[in-house]
Amino acid sequence: MNARIALVLVSCALSLATGFVLSRGKSSAGSKSNGVVIGLSMDTLKEERWIGDRDLFIAKAKALGADVLVESANSDDTRQLRDVESLITRGVDALVIIPHNGAAMARAVEMAHAEGIPVLSYDRLITGADTDLYITFDNVKVGELQAQFIADRLPAQGKLRLIRIYGAKTDNNAVLFKQGQDNILNPLIAAGRIEVVFEDWAEDWKPENAKKITNAAITKAGQRIDAILASNDGTAGGAIQALIEEGLSGKVIVTGQDADLAGCQRIVAGSQTMTVYKPLKVLATQAADLAVKLATGKPIIAKDESDNGKVQVPSVFLPIISVTQDNLRETVIKDDFRSEKDVYGER
Ligand code: BGC
Repeated sequence: MNARIALVLVSCALSLATGFVLSRGKSSAGSKSNGVVIGLSMDTLKEERWIGDRDLFIAKAKALGADVLVESANSDDTRQLRDVESLITRGVDALVIIPHNGAAMARAVEMAHAEGIPVLSYDRLITGADTDLYITFDNVKVGELQAQFIADRLPAQGKLRLIRIYGAKTDNNAVLFKQGQDNILNPLIAAGRIEVVFEDWAEDWKPENAKKITNAAITKAGQRIDAILASNDGTAGGAIQALIEEGLSGKVIVTGQDADLAGCQRIVAGSQTMTVYKPLKVLATQAADLAVKLATGKPIIAKDESDNGKVQVPSVFLPIISVTQDNLRETVIKDDFRSEKDVYGER
């Protein structure tokens, strides 16, 4: 029998009535209070947000006495599976995976479990597998906040003409963002208040793909565009490049997500209209804490769950905030997520 102790999901009475106690991995008898090694397998480090996630995660894990081995797959599923294999071979006690492709990483969970290693799905859900635990933001809500921002700015008369740019099809989050957007937009589209003049998925979330989508949209639908529902700041940046070429920058509502520095600067400059701030420090530090608990077989409380097509994955959802010029200072800057100087420049 392999060393892994089966997942125990216990519906708890009393104070834990709304949650689960999750226990997997080494029994506490075999656990190390120090010398714990966590493997962090990342989709990419080519986008600003993930560098922050990595650094915050490592800092917290170190503070808890754990070492972190990091691999980044450059948006390549084969490479990410190889990364996971290598982390397993190097003897990690728990794996934290940010999947490029949630479905493709089901195999990574199987490989880890075969060696008794628990897996925490970070920010993006690994689907079709016995994923042990999932920590993320409320992704449907992200989409709802983006779409609501546009819904609150409909013209007094006629239809708002909208370009929709979704994220990577391979990312379960992109599907959830779209679901949240649909919740708000579908009734307005049905009522004839919004016309979607163009929509597409930006492969691998790349800004250059978002730019191509925007170029194609303007070629097809003309310059009369009222809003671009971009699903994150990277794709917003690509879309805005196309708007600049067309002389439309600043005249079109553009949404985003992540409060990337470039996104915040564009909000100040007026070329991007909003972003969704997801406090990454909360995500990364809680994830590090959970990963160390998983690695040492300590109990974990996860109040929610996510259906990943195979099991209900115990889940932790974190709150998010809609950000515009009006509340940048009270949110992103107040939290020290970005500095006043970086966002507004020298004054
Ligand atoms: C994340 C976003 C990010 C996007 C592209 C999504 O899964 O939730 O924060 O912008 O991936 O990396």
